[in-house]
Amino acid sequence: MMAGAVGQFLLPFMACSILHTGSSASGNETDWLSLLDFKKAIPLDPQQALASWNDSTHFSSWEGVLCTANNPRRVAYIRLERRGLVGQISPSLGNLTFLQNLSLATNQFTGEIPASLGHLQYLQYLYLSNNTLQGQIPSFANCSSLRVPWLHRNGHVGQFPAELSSGLSQLQISLNNLSGTIPASLSHITTLAVISCAYNNFVGNVPDEFAKLSNMQQLYLGANQLSGRFPGAIMNFSALTDLSLGLNKFNGEVPPDLGRVLHNLLLFELPDNFFHGPIPPSLTNASNLYYIEISRNNFTGLVPSTIGKLNKLEMLNLEYNQLQAERKQDWEFLGSLANCTMLIGFSMTGNRLGGKVPAPLGNLTN
Ligand SMILES: *[C@@H]1O[C@H](CO)[C@@H](O)[C@H](O)[C@H]1NC(C)=O
Ligand SMILES: *[C@@H]1O[C@H](CO)[C@@H](O)[C@H](O)[C@H]1NC(C)=O
Ligand SMILES: *[C@@H]1O[C@H](CO)[C@@H](O)[C@H](O)[C@H]1NC(C)=O
Ligand SMILES: *[C@@H]1O[C@H](CO)[C@@H](O)[C@H](O)[C@H]1NC(C)=O
Ligand SMILES: *[C@@H]1O[C@H](CO)[C@@H](O)[C@H](O)[C@H]1NC(C)=O
Ligand SMILES: *[C@@H]1O[C@H](CO)[C@@H](O)[C@H](O)[C@H]1NC(C)=O
Ligand SMILES: *[C@@H]1O[C@H](CO)[C@@H](O)[C@H](O)[C@H]1NC(C)=O
Ligand SMILES: *[C@@H]1O[C@H](CO)[C@@H](O)[C@H](O)[C@H]1NC(C)=O
Ligand SMILES: *[C@@H]1O[C@H](CO)[C@@H](O)[C@H](O)[C@H]1NC(C)=O
Ligand SMILES: *[C@@H]1O[C@H](CO)[C@@H](O)[C@H](O)[C@H]1NC(C)=O
Ligand SMILES: *[C@@H]1O[C@H](CO)[C@@H](O)[C@H](O)[C@H]1NC(C)=O
Repeated sequence: MMAGAVGQFLLPFMACSILHTGSSASGNETDWLSLLDFKKAIPLDPQQALASWNDSTHFSSWEGVLCTANNPRRVAYIRLERRGLVGQISPSLGNLTFLQNLSLATNQFTGEIPASLGHLQYLQYLYLSNNTLQGQIPSFANCSSLRVPWLHRNGHVGQFPAELSSGLSQLQISLNNLSGTIPASLSHITTLAVISCAYNNFVGNVPDEFAKLSNMQQLYLGANQLSGRFPGAIMNFSALTDLSLGLNKFNGEVPPDLGRVLHNLLLFELPDNFFHGPIPPSLTNASNLYYIEISRNNFTGLVPSTIGKLNKLEMLNLEYNQLQAERKQDWEFLGSLANCTMLIGFSMTGNRLGGKVPAPLGNLTN
């Protein structure tokens, strides 16, 4: 594995360590070798981001390498996002025992995430998003410090990653090519506050067990092939601010008390599904809502006349449903909308509208 040149460097260190400790290379030398391996797996470095990674200085002063303060200094943070790097992620990074943060987002790393990263027990923040990584997502079950893996915008395939450590606060795997169902076992990670798995090929339901994830704040499941009724578990997410279920195959009615229970909602998106029944009037209890997008379903009935209570509303997209407005009182919501002074997008094209549209439309911004 190790190229000859590095091997020759290694020998004196090894001899020295063996003399002093009786063991193989001491930790900081392992770190040094791991970094050299990492660099070696990056054939293209157009911005010369790794030019300082040479023998003239200790690795703690190499660009993008932050070390622990104590002696010997160990690598704690590799920070090389947006550096135009083209190559693979060397499995040797798994030897950086004290690595806490690895940020390689927005480069052009290809190949797989090395399974050896799964040995890093101090790893907290793993930012690998927006590369062209492929293959399956390895197990992080042993990364007991992991909080935030960002793996979105890559080309990962295979199942929803289920082997995760129990302290995660975010899981970002959107914009990959993952498939299969969403595992119920994820519900054991009760610290999860953000799940984003939009733009994959997931099928099936949102497991009922997810009700245990009561710290959930942002749930993005859009653009998959999920199905079934409105996921009941979501009604246990009282801290939820962002709910995005669009471009799936959900059906049935939206719970009438949604806005009362999820009263912290800011964003409510479920376009392009098969929902039917009324728009829950309780939506107006979620008084911080600024984004409502429920187009291309089969919602029926009237638009709640209290919609104007949402004075932070910026977007109300009701297009292509079966909503009705015939009689004068059916149009009350429109007068109420005049209170929504932040509104920049409103459409209800493609519904069952009739009668005489009342005047206050003019109060609406464009
Ligand atoms: C080695 O890195 C130092 C900065 O640490 C830099 O000044 C020097 O030019 C580099 N040497 C080579 C040969 O790239
Ligand atoms: C490792 O640490 C020892 C003791 O602090 C130091 O003498 C040696 O130069 C270090 N080696 C590397 C590669 O950092
Ligand atoms: C890792 O990133 C987190 C969050 O940005 C930060 O709090 C922590 O100090 C970083 N660790 C190191 C070793 O810099
Ligand atoms: C570093 O990691 C690689 C790949 O995981 C392994 O083969 C190698 O033995 C390790 N080297 C050291 C010095 O620990
Ligand atoms: C993703 O990376 C490409 C370059 O590789 C860059 O142009 C684009 O802005 C990045 N996108 C995001 C969302 O960071
Ligand atoms: C996690 O650690 C256990 C115990 O050390 C080990 O048996 C298992 O193979 C490890 N799993 C991974 C994916 O590294
Ligand atoms: C996603 O994976 C499927 C096979 O599961 C493949 O046919 C398709 O081309 C992949 N799409 C992308 C964008 O990689
Ligand atoms: C809903 O969340 C609460 C905590 O807010 C929890 O005690 C309860 O068990 C959860 N319900 C279910 C069905 O998991
Ligand atoms: C709406 O309902 C009609 C009649 O039941 C059905 O044919 C159509 O597929 C439904 N469309 C959506 C988007 O649910
Ligand atoms: C919820 O909204 C309804 C309709 O706007 C209103 O009658 C009710 O008082 C609200 N409840 C709460 C708790 O705000
Ligand atoms: C709209 O605003 C007016 C005046 O600020 C207020 O009297 C009225 O109740 C509001 N309507 C709604 C539906 O919130």
